[in-house]
Amino acid sequence: MLVKKISELRKILSQARREGKTIGFVPTMGALHEGHFSLIRAARQETDFLVTSIFVNPTQFAPSEDFAQYPRDLEGDLKKAEEIGVDLVFAPSAEEMYTEGFATYVWQERLTERMCGLSRPGFFRGVATVVTKLFNIVGPCVAYFGQKDYQQSVVVRRMVRDLNMEVEIRVLPTVRQSDGLAMSSRNKHLSESERQEALCLYQALKEAEALVAAGERKSEKIIEKMREIVAGAPSARIDYMVVVDPENLEDIETIEGEVLVALAVWIGKTRLIDNMLISPEKSEA
Ligand code: PAF
Repeated sequence: MLVKKISELRKILSQARREGKTIGFVPTMGALHEGHFSLIRAARQETDFLVTSIFVNPTQFAPSEDFAQYPRDLEGDLKKAEEIGVDLVFAPSAEEMYTEGFATYVWQERLTERMCGLSRPGFFRGVATVVTKLFNIVGPCVAYFGQKDYQQSVVVRRMVRDLNMEVEIRVLPTVRQSDGLAMSSRNKHLSESERQEALCLYQALKEAEALVAAGERKSEKIIEKMREIVAGAPSARIDYMVVVDPENLEDIETIEGEVLVALAVWIGKTRLIDNMLISPEKSEA
């Protein structure tokens, strides 16, 4: 079922709640792929009534970014959503979400001020704002996010806690293609040769994992090796590479417990992100 109006969505969800159903919610920007499907399948299993939103949110793109080029395929997405068992697709227009005179944004400190937040100023303000709006529209629910957008998931969790939202957040592992490339709607922009070069992100993360398993504990050394791998791809340009605490995203110099290794790399005109949680204990086992 496709719903475009907030009032209609609310009516349907009130009825579902009256029937005692729990609500699962998978927010997306469309161009659905296996990464989204894994979230949808989990939501399907764990909740009774499943809503997926498809909304390419203008406020999380800077004027210089790829809002206009972001892949859109509502018809294809609706078919896929129905096949996989989504009960309702909420696909509002920009005007429905951002009415004339819109002036209220959600701004989070600290967690948003590094990694993707540094290279994409305003991005997390747009994400926090639209996710707040979506949670207010959908109401109490279990909401599903992918680990690929790790920083986003940390920001959303913090926001839900800070603003007392009645939403349970579930974060599920990154889905990869058979050669390791993380699923992303932006992979569609890659040429054949860029698609090959894009593997450098995963290879750099695997190198980090191997180094930690071999006993390396200095983040600086790990990042140096990761840089060498990415430098081997001619059209790659590093945006950032970090080893950070998975909770507060602060830099870690010496690895003692689990860390998040994350990177953003431009492959030609396409910016890709990826990450891995790496733990010295697990690697030593
Ligand atoms: O991860 C995404 O697709 C988007 O950032 C989200 C959470 C749907 C908000 O627009």
